[in-house]
Amino acid sequence: MKKYGNGKSSAKIIWFGEHSVVYEQPAIALPLSAVSVSAQISFNENNEPSRIYSRYYDGLWRQLPRELAGIKQMVIKILSRFDKADQAFTLTIESEIPSERGMGSSAATAVAIARATFNLFDKNISRNQLLQYVDIEEQITHGNPSGLDAATASSKWPIWYVKGAENMQLDMNLAGAFLVIADSGIKGKTSEAVANVSDQMTTDYDKTNSIIMKMGQIASAVPPLLLNNDIDELGNLMNANHNCLRQLHVSNQQLDKLQRVAVLAGAKGAKLTGSGLGGCLIALSDSAQNASLVAKQLEKHGATKTWIQPLGQF
Ligand code: MEV
Repeated sequence: MKKYGNGKSSAKIIWFGEHSVVYEQPAIALPLSAVSVSAQISFNENNEPSRIYSRYYDGLWRQLPRELAGIKQMVIKILSRFDKADQAFTLTIESEIPSERGMGSSAATAVAIARATFNLFDKNISRNQLLQYVDIEEQITHGNPSGLDAATASSKWPIWYVKGAENMQLDMNLAGAFLVIADSGIKGKTSEAVANVSDQMTTDYDKTNSIIMKMGQIASAVPPLLLNNDIDELGNLMNANHNCLRQLHVSNQQLDKLQRVAVLAGAKGAKLTGSGLGGCLIALSDSAQNASLVAKQLEKHGATKTWIQPLGQF
């Protein structure tokens, strides 16, 4: 065993297919390595009680707030696996990922902690094991997650994801393309948004299901465009996907406004990303110059923070 275990992970962006992914339709998502979270864990000496230091909560582990109940269960499960459930520890989390903004903060934090805990025992963790542990956290935090957030936060590459199926790395050839990510400044509400869509599936199945199917068709059309550097058509599909999300009532006025601002600033397309009802917007640019113009315009119209991800990097 080591003195300290360290683990890292990163934010994620859903490019196509949020919500429809819950209903077994394909989704496409990317890890954002520039926005990361790291965790460090060590066992305490001198009978010191377990503690956690984090942006969200600093204090005794036994007084952990309800919002972190998922993390708690996952850590207990991993320590039990190594017969150390009763051993007191100190867990420190440092995160650059804004919480409740559709960037997968909870899943990424759980990935970093699971990696750190295995690292403390000097053991490798397979991707499948990692996803199973993180699912314990995600089930408690989000209710009925598709698993997309955890799969993306634990990947180095863009992925094609279908719930319950093996996820695949996606090849891209988008040399001159950039994704602008903008925080709308409003907290997203994952459980509420997922429950809203589920209610619509019950009350108006035909209409809701046809929107979900349409989003599945949009995501299915994307992989060849990524290979052929077809930025114009990718942008069109992002606009179409945003429209579907609006019809599912998971957008809001601010996200719709930012979507229009991005397109007027010359982005090839733009859409909300993540669960919606707040959170982030993404816009596709065909040059670095346009990406910084789009980012500036989005900030001028209320985005509280922007990031630019070159897509040629993957
Ligand atoms: C949340 O980041 C993405 C949703 O599709 C929910 C999920 O996939 O579990 C809205």
